[in-house]
Amino acid sequence: AIEAGMDRYAVLVLHGQNISDTQQAELSRNFGALEMPDKVSNITKEEDRRLPEDIADISNLDRDNKLFERDDRHRMFNLGNRLWHSDSSFRVVPSKYSLLSARIIPEHDGDTEFADMRAAYDGLDDAAKAEIEDLVCEHSLLTSRGTLGFTELSDQERANFKPVRQCLVRRHPVTGRKSIYLSAHAGGIVGWPVPEARIFLNELIEHATQRKFVHVHRWRAGDLVMWDNRCTIHGRADFPETARRILRRTTVTGARPS
Ligand code: OGA
Ligand code: MN
Repeated sequence: AIEAGMDRYAVLVLHGQNISDTQQAELSRNFGALEMPDKVSNITKEEDRRLPEDIADISNLDRDNKLFERDDRHRMFNLGNRLWHSDSSFRVVPSKYSLLSARIIPEHDGDTEFADMRAAYDGLDDAAKAEIEDLVCEHSLLTSRGTLGFTELSDQERANFKPVRQCLVRRHPVTGRKSIYLSAHAGGIVGWPVPEARIFLNELIEHATQRKFVHVHRWRAGDLVMWDNRCTIHGRADFPETARRILRRTTVTGARPS
């Protein structure tokens, strides 16, 4: 039933799921293997990890459980979640689903917005559909973090974040619906000059995130939201970082490169 719902709606919201990390991982594994952290996806050092490998810490707390300092490197890196993106589009095999479980949520703000890339594709005219049909983009964490002006990366991290190629138009393996595969990580189009690719992709994101394609999720503790990264993009709204906001993410890996 959940898979059928995902295929139809691409984002599902389940309220009142007071689950543990272990239960979240077990639930998620029903949909495929879980992504593990690795050098291409992270700046967190192994010794700073507080959670099991298959659980991502989506919180504003440091390893001592204190609110991040304003200029904490991890906080600045995590601000990338505010840009419209698809999780793990910078991996050779990008993700299928993400599952985000809200444990502690501030009283106001910090909504997560989801845009439907199937509807966005359908909303293009025939000329635009033809233009993007065979384009291939290059995705890297260097692009999304570069947009933020976060350039404080070691040579090793730079090398790890080497771009990967993803098709700009994808077809859903179950429904057959086409969608636009956009992400803040996409910084180039193969065969195009970079500035032309950037402005083109920016304009596509503007088209694809018109309010008519967007669902805004206002969090309550206990919400479990899951989405299909192959055909949606998401981004977080601002919130006053004087309160703790704690969520956990599991990410189901896709079956193959796009
Ligand atoms: C994520 C993400 C947004 C949020 O966990 O992949 O983008 O609202 N989170 O925390
Ligand atoms: Mn995300």
